[in-house]
Amino acid sequence: MTVYQASSPSNIAFVKYWGKLPDAAQVAANSSLSMTLAGCEAITRCQLIPASAAAGDHEVVFGDRPIHRDDKGGRKIFRHLDRMVASAATAPSHWSGFFRVNTYNTFPTSAGIASSAAGISALTVAAAAAMVDSADWQILAEQGFDRAKLADLARLGSGSAGRSLWGGFVKWTSGAEVDQGLEQMWSEDHWHLCDTIAVLSSREKAVSSTDAHREVWTSPLFKLRLATLPHTLEVMEAAIASRDIEALGAALEQEAINMHSVSMTAERSITFPSEGSFALMTALKTWRRDSGLKAYFTLDAGENVHIIHEADQLPALQAKLSSWPGIQDILHDSVGAGPRVVALDSDTL
Ligand code: PMV
Repeated sequence: MTVYQASSPSNIAFVKYWGKLPDAAQVAANSSLSMTLAGCEAITRCQLIPASAAAGDHEVVFGDRPIHRDDKGGRKIFRHLDRMVASAATAPSHWSGFFRVNTYNTFPTSAGIASSAAGISALTVAAAAAMVDSADWQILAEQGFDRAKLADLARLGSGSAGRSLWGGFVKWTSGAEVDQGLEQMWSEDHWHLCDTIAVLSSREKAVSSTDAHREVWTSPLFKLRLATLPHTLEVMEAAIASRDIEALGAALEQEAINMHSVSMTAERSITFPSEGSFALMTALKTWRRDSGLKAYFTLDAGENVHIIHEADQLPALQAKLSSWPGIQDILHDSVGAGPRVVALDSDTL
C-alpha cells in the first residue's frame, strides 16, 4: 500500500482558545485567531493496513518509540485514527481497517509550541490521503475530504489543530457543535510576521491543555475574559488588516496575560509561565522602551516565550536574546503556508 507523508505546521494563537464547553464535541468557549507557522512541523507518514493482514489495531510509532492505545500519549492519537476510519463511512472512498503511522515533530513536544495542533492536523491529512489513495487536494475534496472537512476532523482531535489546515492567519469562530466556523482570514502573503521562540525548557508541561480547558471555568475572571474577547478579536483583526505591529503587539501581550491570569486564578491554580518566562517578558518591554525594538510576547500553555515581530527586527532581537541567561535554544519561525502532502516512492514507512 502507498505511504503518504503529510507535513503540517503548528500555529501560534494570537487570541487563545481557552476553555471548552462541557459535554460537547470540542466546542470552544470563545473564538480564536492564530498565525500558522512554517518551520515547527509534524511530519507524519501513514499507510493502510490491508484487511487481509488481520491487524488488531493501528500501529503507531512516535519518533522511534512505539505508542499503544492505552499509553498516556496514545489515547488522543488512536481515538483520532478511529475517527478518521469512521469518517470514511460517509465518504465516497468508503474504507475500513487500520493505519500504520510513523510521526515526529521538528520541535519540542508539549512545551507550549502547540505540538498537538501540528500532530493532529498532519495525522488528519496523511490518513485521509491514505484512505483516498491520493495526495491531490482536488481528489481529496471530491472524495469527501475538502479542507473544511479536514479542518473539522482535526478540530475534533485537538481544537487548535483545525486552524493548522490553512496557511497565514486563521480564525475559528465558536458556535454550536455543528456550526464551528474555521476559515483563513489572510494568506501567508499578506504580512510576513516572524515568531522567534525562546526555548527556556523542553520539558513536558505538568498540566495538559485538555485539563486546563476544564479547569479555567472555575476562575472568577473567566466570564470577564469571555465578555472582553470579541473586542480583542476586532482590535487584532484590524491590526493585521492594516499590518500595524504596534497595535497587534499591545493586544497580543494583553491577551496572553489575560489567558494566564484566568489559569492562575482557577480553583486548582495552573501557572504555565516559569520565573524565566516572566523575566524575559519584562525584559522585552524594557528593550522596547530603551532601544525601540518592536517585538511582542505571547505564551501558549507552556513556559516558552513566543516573540512576534517583523523581519527587520530580527538582528536586534537576536543580539538581545543571545546574551539573555537561561535560554536553551532559539527557534526562528515565521508565518507559513499550511500543510503539504505527498505520496512516497517507498511502500514501507
Ligand atoms: O488544541 P488544544 O486542546 O491543545 O488547546 C490549545 C490551547 C492553546 O494552545 C493554549 C491556545 C490555542 O488557541 O492554541
